[in-house]
Amino acid sequence: MDIAAARARHAELSTQLHHQNRLYYALDAPEISDADYDRLFRELLELEKAFPQLTTDDSPSRRIGAPPLDKFTQIRHQQPMLSLDNALNEDEIRAFDARVKRQLETSDELEYVCEMKLDGVAVELVYRHGRLVVGSTRGDGVTGEEITANLRTIRSLPLQLEAPYPALLEVRGEIYFDTAAFRTMNEERTTEGLPTFANPRNAAAGSLRQLDPAITAKRPLRIFCYGIGALDGVTPTRHDTLLNLLNDWGLPINLAGMRKTVGVAGAIDYFRELIENRDALAFEIDGMVIKVNDLNLQRQLGATSRAPRWAIAAKFPPRQAETTVSDILLQVGRTGAITPVAVLQSVKISGVTVSRASLHNWDEIARLDVRIGDRVLVERAGDVIPDVVKVLTDRRDGSERPLPEPATCPACAAPVKRFNDEVVPRCQGLACPAQLKERIKHFVSRKAMDIDGLGGRYIDQLLELQLVTSVADLYTLQRDDLFRFERMGETLADKLLAAIAASKKRPLPRFLFALGIRNVGAHLAKVLARQFGSLERLSTATEEELTTIHEIGPQVAASVVSFFRNPDNRAILQRLAQAGVAAQEEAPRAGGPLFGKTFVFTGTLSQLGRTEAQQKVERCGARASGSVSKKTDYVVAGTEAGSKLDKALQLGLTVMTEEEFLVFIEGLEDST
Ligand code: IVH
Repeated sequence: MDIAAARARHAELSTQLHHQNRLYYALDAPEISDADYDRLFRELLELEKAFPQLTTDDSPSRRIGAPPLDKFTQIRHQQPMLSLDNALNEDEIRAFDARVKRQLETSDELEYVCEMKLDGVAVELVYRHGRLVVGSTRGDGVTGEEITANLRTIRSLPLQLEAPYPALLEVRGEIYFDTAAFRTMNEERTTEGLPTFANPRNAAAGSLRQLDPAITAKRPLRIFCYGIGALDGVTPTRHDTLLNLLNDWGLPINLAGMRKTVGVAGAIDYFRELIENRDALAFEIDGMVIKVNDLNLQRQLGATSRAPRWAIAAKFPPRQAETTVSDILLQVGRTGAITPVAVLQSVKISGVTVSRASLHNWDEIARLDVRIGDRVLVERAGDVIPDVVKVLTDRRDGSERPLPEPATCPACAAPVKRFNDEVVPRCQGLACPAQLKERIKHFVSRKAMDIDGLGGRYIDQLLELQLVTSVADLYTLQRDDLFRFERMGETLADKLLAAIAASKKRPLPRFLFALGIRNVGAHLAKVLARQFGSLERLSTATEEELTTIHEIGPQVAASVVSFFRNPDNRAILQRLAQAGVAAQEEAPRAGGPLFGKTFVFTGTLSQLGRTEAQQKVERCGARASGSVSKKTDYVVAGTEAGSKLDKALQLGLTVMTEEEFLVFIEGLEDST
């Protein structure tokens, strides 16, 4: 391919990827499958590898990171990023309303916009002519750190605004983590022996302050925008209209969390509702922001050097409580990682009884200096397990006992070892029952082999009765074995056996994930499955081969190779195979009657859904693309096909009607 063709294709791919990205992340309405998206993305990366000059700063490839920085540069905000004054209770909210009315010399009720106050990190994004050019942290409000490359990795953030966009937009927002994503990330970090983050806000801050954007790219960060610095070209008169404009330009706005009220009473109602419902949200909020809706009134009210007078942060009561650490338990994970957990005297924090708190690791224990018997302050955030935030050292009476890092495994007494770069020690016991239990739990879990009904209680009994010594033993269990369980009837036993049998043919990515290869989570399992197609191929892959794959680094490559080299693992894999466990292999990338061909579907297909049509051609080895180019082999035009059909005709491509396509593909499907 020459540079001109590469440039054209690159432009085409960029447009397509930006568009699909927005459909997927901002509108939640994807038009193409993940696999198709990945294919387009990979094609883009390959092009950029061959023609590095195509790698512009707003290329979709920046979603996975730009070259690392040596340090951050300081950047001055055009307009200072102010903070907010706080209202700590309903009276203080009313006092805010009274203050505003007094200053405006009015007794009329004011229109307010109430927004959720996200607990994350404030950033500013500058868009010039629709393009994201600079992003920075709030810093001290006047100067922040330039973190553009990191912000570009946030998928829901447009690199290019939707037209008609303003000439200049400085938009502000909060970077945050979904609670569930935060929890998953911490779990993965524990398995990998990395320090866990204390809360989603810390995790967001830590992820943004990475010199290597590729690291930021791996963190599932999100953003909601809530206001602006400067805006040229449009002059909205109300804050809610402004938010809607931002939304139209493609920026993520929490419109669902916004409430307009006339008068302060409605704001207080919403405040109460939010306190009641905050646990049901996908993200952590620590309060509600009340803003005067009329932008003229906002200007009239002005700001102090610290905060605007037209807004206030109504903070939720803290979800903290004081209690005693009655013990510190040591949990052994499936890779042997030993993590400390505080056992607490039960205490209620905003309606929820708390009896455990996470201590993360020994560095954290040392930092807090927490000891068994200590009075502590615990805080609950979202539905993650609570944290010890502080030890009340002045309440000590001398009976408190520190818990040293263990030298042996609490479950099997084997020696433990802490590797150089890790913050948790690991049990070195090969037959550690605690590790085995966690491995089995992982193996049967929903995202892995999904063995329905095989919960922790049964796994405990399987281990106690020594019915299993590895996951392979699950598949040789007999009815009589299960009858040895407490309270096990025939129906239940048959159900369990059926669930186990049903798991024998899971798709390869799930099976790979279930194996619990170190550093291989659900996502990388998919990547590996797609690349290698079968367990057999993967098991003989070399580190060199593995590291050529995008997303697979030397660490993952090494753990994959060492997993398959390990004789115990090989024996287990062999036994699984003997028991009839055969993961469904991924469709081969080569082969199929339409291998190498590209299809574009356009217009409305009346008999098939778009997805179904795409799956049909993919099963025959072809790929479905969203854009027409010289490289397209077939275009299937439904009713109301528009510009893509025109382009196809212009290029002289083969165009089929839906009926013709159905006849064509049926003939081929029969032959596969
Ligand atoms: S408005 C000039 N709206 O809270 C007023 N802030 O305590 C700017 N925050 O630094 C703030 N959600 O990082 C506003 N819906 C929201 C917010 C919000 C979170 C953060 C923001 C700000 C801090 C002030």
